[in-house]
Amino acid sequence: MRIRKAVLPVAGLGTRVLPATKAIPKELLPVVDRPVIQYVVDEALEAGIEHIIFVTGRGKGAIEDYFDHSYELEDQLKAKNKTDILAAVEASRLPAGASSFVRQQAPLGLGHAVWCARDVIGNEPFAVLLPDVIVKGKPSGLKQMVDAFARVGGNIIAVDPVPQDRVSSYGVIAPKSRDGRLIAMSGMIEKPPRESAPSNLAITGRYILQPEIFGLLEKQGAGAGGEIQLTDAMARLMDLQDFYAYEFEGSVHDCGNKTGYFEAVLAHALDNPDTAAFARDLVRQAAGKL
Ligand code: G1P
Repeated sequence: MRIRKAVLPVAGLGTRVLPATKAIPKELLPVVDRPVIQYVVDEALEAGIEHIIFVTGRGKGAIEDYFDHSYELEDQLKAKNKTDILAAVEASRLPAGASSFVRQQAPLGLGHAVWCARDVIGNEPFAVLLPDVIVKGKPSGLKQMVDAFARVGGNIIAVDPVPQDRVSSYGVIAPKSRDGRLIAMSGMIEKPPRESAPSNLAITGRYILQPEIFGLLEKQGAGAGGEIQLTDAMARLMDLQDFYAYEFEGSVHDCGNKTGYFEAVLAHALDNPDTAAFARDLVRQAAGKL
């Protein structure tokens, strides 16, 4: 079955990058010339997603405006013949009717945020993309997972190795065996203490899930950090259905923390034709001073 819909939980407060996110949503922080969330939406569209469900909260209205038609702005750019900028602004718009906005009324956790999208998803497999993770890959991160899903079905979550001293910030899997980039698992746990983490393979913000997850989320009690965790419900779904982890070909940048955000800006500046030469010189000069 095709993956047509994607959930983007954008209700998070962005506390790890305050005060930068005091007045604007963390998802709208710029990475070179586009906000973080634009990279994530482009990744979803490249993977064939036709409808995006944003799970928002208070203070996140700017995200809805960002993906809308900005009539006055586009009209002025047209009148001034600024065609390049106009094309970039037009490309940031989502097609009419291709998005929905659902409110998560209280910050009860990622599992609860995904559950809030249940009526719009209905009874079909769907994707979840965490909006502070940028995956730089060709094809796009989610496209790689959709291709794997076409082969094996079931449920698939992306994982990425992280340094052992960071495992307690993530959901972590217990790998069993590997077939190329697909990994069979015996379990997963949210934010384990470093000493008892089953591996250093962190769940990295991309999921393809079967709709049966919603029934489990509905009954899911609070877990790590007192929040309703998606990882806990997935661990139970693993007992009932096929479940795989997938390691991306490409790089993963977690923009929800300062170092990951900086890494994302640097990686994209080195890649963007407008900034690449300048960024390379700057890195060389900086390296010379170390
Ligand atoms: C969430 C998930 C966690 C995952 C992480 C990736 O945690 O609960 O399993 O590893 O995103 O960024 P959060 O960053 O919201 O604490």
